[in-house]
Amino acid sequence: PPLATIINTYDFEEVASKTVSKKTWAFYSSAATDLITRDLNKASYDRIFFRPRVLRNVTKVDTQTTMLGQKMSLPLFVAPAAMAKMIHPEGEKALARGVTNQGIIQCVSNNASFPLGEIISSAPQNHPFFFQLYVNKDRKKSEKLMKDITALDGIKAIFVTVDAPAAGKREADEKVAADESLTTPMGGSKARNDRKGGGLGRTMGQYVDPSLTWNDIPWLRSITSLPIGLKGIQTAADAKIAMEYGIDAIMLSNHGGRSLDTSPPAIFILLELHKTYPEVFTAMEIYIDGGIRRGTDILKALCLGAKAVGLGRPFLYALNYGHEGVEHLVEILRDELETSMRMVGITNLAQAHPGLVNTLGVDHL
Ligand code: FNR
Repeated sequence: PPLATIINTYDFEEVASKTVSKKTWAFYSSAATDLITRDLNKASYDRIFFRPRVLRNVTKVDTQTTMLGQKMSLPLFVAPAAMAKMIHPEGEKALARGVTNQGIIQCVSNNASFPLGEIISSAPQNHPFFFQLYVNKDRKKSEKLMKDITALDGIKAIFVTVDAPAAGKREADEKVAADESLTTPMGGSKARNDRKGGGLGRTMGQYVDPSLTWNDIPWLRSITSLPIGLKGIQTAADAKIAMEYGIDAIMLSNHGGRSLDTSPPAIFILLELHKTYPEVFTAMEIYIDGGIRRGTDILKALCLGAKAVGLGRPFLYALNYGHEGVEHLVEILRDELETSMRMVGITNLAQAHPGLVNTLGVDHL
């Protein structure tokens, strides 16, 4: 269907489900075991209600914000996702063109299908990107990578993913055989659907170091001058430890439900932080991802203290239409967010606050 007929994130998803290869669909849409967390990610937003305020002159709304000092037109970033080439030949490069035209930030995966330099040079110069790192069992490789990244002008922060010390058991990805032409960024090993579990996620995750600990944070700091974030914080207690280690930003995330099934929707952690360690909100920037599909979801997360939100699968599905699809997705979300802001009675994002939402529906979930 033509792009103009697509009016929400679900339309992109539906087209992708019907047009992409079986393996691509299995890899992108799958999540760990029973898919409980993947599906509850979105369902938990649906149980939060607004407390809309009226009569506030909402003629003009401003959606601009910053992440770690980088300006963006919307509180929205592209969550790092492996292998964007599976849905479009230009993969992460087309994604980069689309998001930079729309003024938002892309966090490029360590498992991207193109070299980082190629991806960031597809965008106008000086456009900021973030990089997502999996620490390699061979620490020397990570050191070299971090040094190379620091030397590249376009990368403004490194986010270390900490929620995948083991590969999640993604059964759809395990069951569907890889397309013959498929190679992973780690040197062409083909995923096989054998009984050992040769899913693509599992194959690509083999280099990730499960021995990483909090004690390694100073080592990471010693390699790069860039801000360091942690992606995949899943408890308030760990958010507090991150703060104590001087981490610059955290992404509350359960990897789109792809790592540990029945790990909590990230919005629960945001709520828990208000009750336990509210000081983290001023010490670090807090981002959130998982299940965000509507402008209303974005606004709810911001009301509850997130500085920005990430979307994973929706960007991959929009990429089916190349960079135009990506731009179209951002325009849809911009429009939905502006509409929601007007309806709750705010004109800029600094006015978002917890009093604008009723969370009773998730407090007892
Ligand atoms: C991911 N995600 C991910 N995260 C990460 O830190 N490194 C990675 O390489 C990947 N790869 C990846 C591939 C695919 C196909 C998906 C769907 C996801 C997780 C991603 O960054 C993000 O946390 C979730 O996708 C957010 O959930 P939604 O928006 O997909 O519901």
